[in-house]
Amino acid sequence: MAAYELPEMESEEFALWQTLLEKRTGLWLPESRKVFLIAALTRHLKDKGLKNFSELYSKLDAGAITVLDWATLVDSLTVHETCYYRDSASLNLVANYCRNRAIEGFQSEPNKPQHIQLWSVGCSTGEEAYTLAIELDKVNHGLRESQGKDIYYGVTAIDISYPSLAVAREGIYAARQLDFVPQAAKNLYFDLLADDYYQVKEPIRQRTCFIQGNVLELGERNKQLFDVIYCQNVLIYFRSERKKMVVNQLTKRLKPGGLLVLGHGEVTLFENGELTRLDNKDCLAYLKKSNDNC
Ligand SMILES: C[S@@+](CC[C@H](N)C(=O)[O-])C[C@H]1O[C@@H](n2cnc3c(N)ncnc32)[C@H](O)[C@@H]1O
Repeated sequence: MAAYELPEMESEEFALWQTLLEKRTGLWLPESRKVFLIAALTRHLKDKGLKNFSELYSKLDAGAITVLDWATLVDSLTVHETCYYRDSASLNLVANYCRNRAIEGFQSEPNKPQHIQLWSVGCSTGEEAYTLAIELDKVNHGLRESQGKDIYYGVTAIDISYPSLAVAREGIYAARQLDFVPQAAKNLYFDLLADDYYQVKEPIRQRTCFIQGNVLELGERNKQLFDVIYCQNVLIYFRSERKKMVVNQLTKRLKPGGLLVLGHGEVTLFENGELTRLDNKDCLAYLKKSNDNC
């Protein structure tokens, strides 16, 4: 075999890997990504001194590799593409929703502080979570001016990928990664470091919390409820039944009246009695029924 040639993988063996990955991560690898799988597994065999794919498969299936090895493998097979201000229509929707929810809260419970909690699910290297935190900070400034009151807000963000989360926690990005950040926000929310790198300012980093997690295991994690759940470009790699299962789990984690934002066309033909689809042609978003109308 020439150095650049990858080994073959029979269809039956590929099907086994597809099933294992889907069971553990939700990710469904189409035939078109078989070559990525073979390349990732080949690197892994080399690192671990294993002979062939089936030896690695048996170890994985028996749970006989370390969490770190499994994480490295999953990381090389998942897509982490992301950017700041990726979907402005959905971000505007979230900002308006949070503003209105806060104003309703100020009116109905004038003596109580208003808390708004957001969840970025499949946050990759953090751009989405920081964008949400920046938008919420802007909402808070507006509320302070118009209502004379602040809200308490936070963004929790999860991803299955440890390396992506490490980048997210640092909050350091090359200048070109901030291309879609409006100039005013860039000035307000980022510190310029050496070599044309920027870091998200401390107050925004303090509003965000990055946690490793698997969306297939949401039922097992602590049961914090959120006002807004933002899950874009994650379920797109899942097959239909798994998408529905995850959306049902996410719905359970929304507060009554909470907002669920998915990516455009990410989930189709979906029914959940607790959710009402918002009439917005630019976003795929749902409101959870509030206690008084469910
Ligand atoms: C394409 S990125 C999307 C990032 C961001 N949401 C956006 O829209 O820009 C998909 C992310 O989902 C994560 N992911 C994939 N499967 C996951 C799972 N089962 N649980 C948690 N995160 C997962 C990947 O690690 C990756 O960082």
